[in-house]
Amino acid sequence: RLEGSLRPQSLSEYIGQEKTKKTLKIYIEAARQRGDALDHVLFYGPPGLGKTTLAGIIANEMGVHMKVTSGPAIEKPGEMAAILNNLQEGDVLFVDEIHRLNRQVEEVLYPAMEDYAIDIMIGKGASARSIRLDLPKFTLVGATTRAGLLTAPLRDRFGVMHHLEFYTVLELTTIILRSAQVLEVEIEPKGAQEIAKRSRGTPRLANRLLKRVRDFAQVKYDGKITLEVAQFALDLLEVDQYGLDQVDRRILKTLIINFQGGPVGLETLAASVGEDPGTVEDVYEPYLLQNGFLSRTPRGRIASDLAYRHLGIEK
Ligand code: ADE
Repeated sequence: RLEGSLRPQSLSEYIGQEKTKKTLKIYIEAARQRGDALDHVLFYGPPGLGKTTLAGIIANEMGVHMKVTSGPAIEKPGEMAAILNNLQEGDVLFVDEIHRLNRQVEEVLYPAMEDYAIDIMIGKGASARSIRLDLPKFTLVGATTRAGLLTAPLRDRFGVMHHLEFYTVLELTTIILRSAQVLEVEIEPKGAQEIAKRSRGTPRLANRLLKRVRDFAQVKYDGKITLEVAQFALDLLEVDQYGLDQVDRRILKTLIINFQGGPVGLETLAASVGEDPGTVEDVYEPYLLQNGFLSRTPRGRIASDLAYRHLGIEK
């Protein structure tokens, strides 16, 4: 069975992100009624919360094709021009990590997004001139971890922007029960809830953990995922009660032990942990912040009492 089949194909199957769903539904319906392409959409937020899935759903609901690429994959303006020129009327172009497009490639997008046209240079030197090539009307769906990573001119060309939020334990439990059905795995609600609690608010992680727990259930038990199987497997995977993984714990431990709990600057903390500062800020911190393990102050990051307690370190 294909990994991708766990992704919902329509808004009605999609669990969570209620605000985003509600508004997208209206924009999609309105564009369809007008027989028009949907306006360009930017999704931002931590990885694994459904940005790619939502882009696919937009294409499905609009009844168009989706072409998928990413910021680092497009190196030259001509490559972007070729992708745009090959789109059909109304198509969705999904650009993951859109903040990583280089300057020249990004500049191809400005007239493409605004006027559905690209400017191509013909000839060299004194005889060089640019000609405008019309494109089909299309929808750019961009994804990034933080809207602030985009340049202002690019950000301004999106008509719709949505921040994706972490999922609640209840939403993740529902997603896991749905995925278990797709994977044809027997699961008890308590087992699903245990996986949900340890999934860091993230469906991608929930589905990954579900598959690993299923392996344990299959080999070590009778195939059914119970609370006991889930706890046993997740403990072995070193995913703790709050869903923190080794990197999350290393960040907190470093903050507490090397920097007496802070405050310490992001760059210094990241260097000590051996991670890129952008990754710490955009991938690890949001969950730690939201769940009260960490706080940000003007003087740097501080570990909370909860962080000390959770790691069993005396303050
Ligand atoms: N699988 C992954 N994310 C999902 C979601 N938000 N709803 C339903 N199934 C999913």
